[in-house]
This record gives sequence, C-alpha cells and structure tokens, in this order.
Amino acid sequence: MHVKKPKVFLSWRFPDPGPQLVMEHCETQVWEGQAPIERTQFLSVLADVDGVLVSNATEQLDREAIDAAPRLRCISNFGVGYDNVDVPYATSRRIAVCNTPGVLTETTADHAFALLLAAARRIPEGIIHVKEDRWRGWNPWLLVGREVNGATLGIVGLGAIGTAVARRARGFGMSVLYWSRAPKPHEESETGAVYSSLQFLLQSSDFVCITVALTPETRGLIGAREFALMKPAAILVNVARGPIVDRSALYDALHDGTISGAALDVTDPEPLRGTDLLLTLPNLLIVPHTGSATDRTRSRMSELAARNLTAALCGERPLHIVNPEVLQN
Ligand code: DGY
Repeated sequence: MHVKKPKVFLSWRFPDPGPQLVMEHCETQVWEGQAPIERTQFLSVLADVDGVLVSNATEQLDREAIDAAPRLRCISNFGVGYDNVDVPYATSRRIAVCNTPGVLTETTADHAFALLLAAARRIPEGIIHVKEDRWRGWNPWLLVGREVNGATLGIVGLGAIGTAVARRARGFGMSVLYWSRAPKPHEESETGAVYSSLQFLLQSSDFVCITVALTPETRGLIGAREFALMKPAAILVNVARGPIVDRSALYDALHDGTISGAALDVTDPEPLRGTDLLLTLPNLLIVPHTGSATDRTRSRMSELAARNLTAALCGERPLHIVNPEVLQN
C-alpha cells in the first residue's frame, strides 16, 4: 500500500546530515535562499505542511504563523532556544515543539569564554592596532586589560550552558557566583559555583555572563538599575538572547562608563545594522550570533533537529520535545 509521506519545509539548506535524513521520510521543500525567507512567503508555505525545521534565530512561529498552518504537527527548531515559538498556543493545537539541547552546550560555553577572554585582554583592539600599522613597539600602557585569573565570574542562569561556563571558569582560577530561579546543589558541587541573589552577583562580579533563557520573566532582566549595581570595571558577556539586556540601558552603561565593556554574541534586534549606535562604542565587542557555529556542532544540531522532526511526524517520541503533553492521547 502506498503511504503518503508527510510534507515538510526546511527554512534553510541546513548542514548535513539533517536534510538527507528528513528527505528519507518526508516530502521536503527546502528554502535555498542566502537570506531568511520573507515572512509573507513563509506564511504561505505553512498553508500545507505537516512539519517545519526552522532556525530559532530567523523564523517566528507565533500565533499568526501557527494559524497559517492548519496541518502543522511539528515545529523542529535548529537550536536549543525556543523563544521564537508560541509554545502554549502550539500546545493547544497539539503541535510538537522540539529543540536541540546538549549537542551545543560545550561549544557555546567555549564561545562565551572566548568572548570573555577577548574582551578582558582587548584582543580585537590589539588586532586592529597591529593591522592598521599603529604598532610602534612595546610600551607599559599599551592595551592594558583586565585580569581573568582570580576574578569573580557571575553567571546569570545556571542551565547546561551556564554550568559548562562555570567549569571553564574554575580552570581559569576564577571564583564563580550564579543566580537562577532556585539553587542547584548538583551543579554547585560539580563546579564550585555559589548561589547568590542577582543583586549580590552584580555587585560582586568582575565578569557577568548571561546564559539564562529568554522568557517573559527574563526579558529586560538587565537594565539601568542592574548596570548601576555592577562594578565600573565589570565586563558583561551575553551568549543567551539580546532582549534579556535592555538595549538603551546597555548603550548608556557603556557610553557613560558605568561598566567597562561588553562582549555580545546576541543582540536586540538581530541583525544589528551598521548604523546602530551600539556599534560606535569602542568598549563593545560583538559577533553575529555564532555561539554554536562549529562544523561538528552544526552537524549534530542538524541531525538532532531532523530526527526530532521525523520522529514526531512518524508517531514516535522525539528525542527532545519541549511540550511532551501533546504526545498524550
Ligand atoms: C540556540 O541554539 O538557541 C542558538 O542561539 C542558535 O540559534
């Protein structure tokens, strides 16, 4: 008997092996563009698909998009965050929402540490200094940065990525404070991190690293009041989501010297365009949301997102599902 394959849409030509795995089980349409699919086009594609494999950074699956997809049964995110999806609404429609935790934890923690070290030791400024032929020899004041060894790192959100950052910090001889909704005894004994109020963490840390998920509660979590609590020498690192930090408060804090620097992998909005005032700040180090961007990790994300999608559409339990209640009969 000929069984009709589910119809799916991939919003990028994702790295191997995901697309191939999906094609084995599904009738597959792939967006081949070099830029994200336009919203109106995305909404019309949704009209007759059973599943989508999308980037959490480029496609919004809000109520409007879900309403445009009457047959949709699975939203598989290429990424761990799912703030691009209206999960309660998807759940009310019994749509499985899947993500890719685990496979990108260490890579993103490496990236957080790369940003922390680069900002502390002023690596981007050093590169520009040499390449622009401004290097006139050693001098004791040249590009003096901040000491990492012996410093205090405050981690906002001790999930898997935060814990992996804490492990790295220990290797660098740092003391680690963390704040999260509740103390995490297991992670504390693994990393030596100490639970703290957000206020104490901000007041005591030389580096503040944001690894908390974006939720209605964490949107704007770091604003003018929080910057005012931080040390003037402090450096903020954000590898989570841009809107956790209030963008105008961030600009003011860097511009006025309330804190000494920031290193961002994520911004609000994304992408930041060349005319953005934030880009005029010499004490802002910024990269374009590349926390999980290594060949091996991207391939693992691709495989996991594809397996989640095909499992959900073939009536099996996906490896990572955010709303497992939709699987109940
Ligand atoms: C994630 O996995 O959520 C990363 O931010 C990539 O979007």
